Amino acid sequence: MITVISGTNRQDSKTRAIVGLYVDLLKAKGVAYQILDLVYLPEDFTIKALYDYTGKHEEFNKLSALIRNSDKFVFIVPEYNGSFPGVLKTFIDGLDYPYTFKDKKAALVGVSSGMQGGLLALSHLTDIFNYLGMHVLAQKVKLAFISKNFDGKLLTNQLYNELLEQQAESFIKF
Ligand SMILES: Cc1cc2nc3c(=O)[nH]c(=O)nc-3n(C[C@H](O)[C@H](O)[C@H](O)COP(=O)(O)O)c2cc1C
Repeated sequence: MITVISGTNRQDSKTRAIVGLYVDLLKAKGVAYQILDLVYLPEDFTIKALYDYTGKHEEFNKLSALIRNSDKFVFIVPEYNGSFPGVLKTFIDGLDYPYTFKDKKAALVGVSSGMQGGLLALSHLTDIFNYLGMHVLAQKVKLAFISKNFDGKLLTNQLYNELLEQQAESFIKF
């Protein structure tokens, strides 16, 4: 079972659309998947789900259970302010520390309107996951200039489709 994570709670994000394309790839390969969409983070989670409240917020627990019950993750992550979204870090801070990600595996995809494709975002996230003991696939996909390369449904840049396909193939074997 692969959990595909939409790494922002912004409504109608491009990131969420890319999640849809990624699960289509997994489906075509006959791989079981589930989606964890941070848009479903409860509004009060920063106050009622972290630290002393860990494990006590029912709605948040539904999302964290998707992480706990899975060993492989694809993080689709937009570039916000030269990194990954703070809301994703806050979500991670609400998970059981320190063993949630230990010995698990992740693949990373960056999405940006600018030219980096989330290069630094993916690098920052890799540091955190490695610190937590998670193995990160070296093959990272950076979808830069997303507005020019995505028509609202499909990636119009053939190279981007090939890179996602190749990453999915490698990650299934990883
Ligand atoms: C708070 C915020 C900060 C952003 N910072 C950057 C940035 O540093 N570099 C960049 O290329 N795009 C930046 N963007 C634009 C996103 O990359 C763009 O919205 C893209 O579609 C991916 O985000 P989305 O999944 O929310 O749509 C930012 C967007 C938001 C909402």
